[in-house]
Amino acid sequence: MDKFIINGNKTLHGEVTVSGAKNAVVAIIPATIMVNGVCRIENVPRVSDVIIQLEILQQMGARVRSLNPTTVEIDCRGMRNARTPEDLMRKLRASYYLIGTLLGRYHKAEVAMPGGCNFGGVRPIDQHVKGFEALGATVSIKNGYVYAEAPQGLRGANVYLDVVSVGATMNVMLAATMAQGQTVIENAAKEPHIVDLANFLNAMGADIMGAGTDVIKIRGVETLHGGTYSVIPDQIEAGTYMAAVMATGGSVLVRNVIPKHLECITAKLEEMGAQVEELDDAVRVTRLEPLNKINLKTLPYPGFPTDMQPQLVAALCLAQGTSVITEGVWDNRYRYVEELRRMGARIQVDGKVAIVEGVPELTGAKVQACDLRAGAAMVIAGLAAHGTTEVDGIAYIERGYENIVEKLQGLGADITRVTVPEEDRMPMAR
Ligand code: EPZ
Repeated sequence: MDKFIINGNKTLHGEVTVSGAKNAVVAIIPATIMVNGVCRIENVPRVSDVIIQLEILQQMGARVRSLNPTTVEIDCRGMRNARTPEDLMRKLRASYYLIGTLLGRYHKAEVAMPGGCNFGGVRPIDQHVKGFEALGATVSIKNGYVYAEAPQGLRGANVYLDVVSVGATMNVMLAATMAQGQTVIENAAKEPHIVDLANFLNAMGADIMGAGTDVIKIRGVETLHGGTYSVIPDQIEAGTYMAAVMATGGSVLVRNVIPKHLECITAKLEEMGAQVEELDDAVRVTRLEPLNKINLKTLPYPGFPTDMQPQLVAALCLAQGTSVITEGVWDNRYRYVEELRRMGARIQVDGKVAIVEGVPELTGAKVQACDLRAGAAMVIAGLAAHGTTEVDGIAYIERGYENIVEKLQGLGADITRVTVPEEDRMPMAR
């Protein structure tokens, strides 16, 4: 259990290269289970969620080979439909995509209930279950496992999602890829990683149309073939470095991005007083003075992403005036606020609304990363704060940010990763 030590109050300058999108690749890796051939996947981020997923597939009999640090080859032809390894499955949320793909290939899945970031609220999977049932599967949840079965095979159907859910959209798309006939997902989520999963599946021979709109049509195919696919850049990782510049000041070129995917973030940063220059596959973010307050509501794509909310709040702690933030996706995603308060932030939370009153400076403190994006917010606050910040619980951060320490060091930040002796560790439950 290591931690980050940050000596803050330094502006960021230079260039940073964004890795592949974690939330795309965690669906693409399980999708390879349905492929009758070798998948070569490029631009894969080496983050712990991805490493765990590759391990799960290997334990189930897949052949996984790293060709270079960002390219893996996966061949699931020799896989058995084993019970998924429970200890590994509990370590990540995206393990639920195995239900869709195992149902697709074997018409049967036994998958330990997903773990993953805990925002302090419920993370239901009822919409996933509704979709599988519409395709003809019977689904039950007992003893911490999801059991799904369709002995006659899956049949295409109309699935109307009651809530716009990224996970349910992807999972139903996965299950429907090799079902008999056509599936239509209505009220689908539109995030870039949904389009990326559809593009991957189509590249392997699937027939999916409309991904990126709220109606997705999937004509089932009998088989998927191998091929090469490059994962899109991580929109949230890019946004995190952009938010860091807003907090510290400076000017950074963020490379390997799709600027269109960042528009929902860029618009808000410009309101805060940033200058954002869009290039072909990069954006340059420069913080102008002063840092303005904004009002913000998180929404499904193309709205402002909930996965950027904590990072932007960290920057808004230093804005002139009072910002009003409304969390429109998750019930409770403000657990990190208490940690920011330890650094001098003035934030009041009432249900889904946070009132952030800007302060002239934050001060370094010992803080805890309570989930992935909350952890990123702690790092951003630490980079801007006067004095030293110690961020504990960094395993959360490393689930989704590849080489974050090295990347920030490259921008001039004074951040190091240190190993904490057993006796000095902070208690986790605070
Ligand atoms: C994905 O989670 C991401 N995770 C999350 O990112 C992200 O916060 C979220 O989408 C929203 O963008 C992955 O892609 C692995 P949802 P997911 O289903 O799919 C409700 C990060 O930091 N809901 O879109 O689990 C749910 O309660 C992570 O990278 C149901 O009611 O989220 C929530 O209010 C954390 N029933 C809303 O929908 C369901 O069956 C959106 O959740 C499913 C969801």
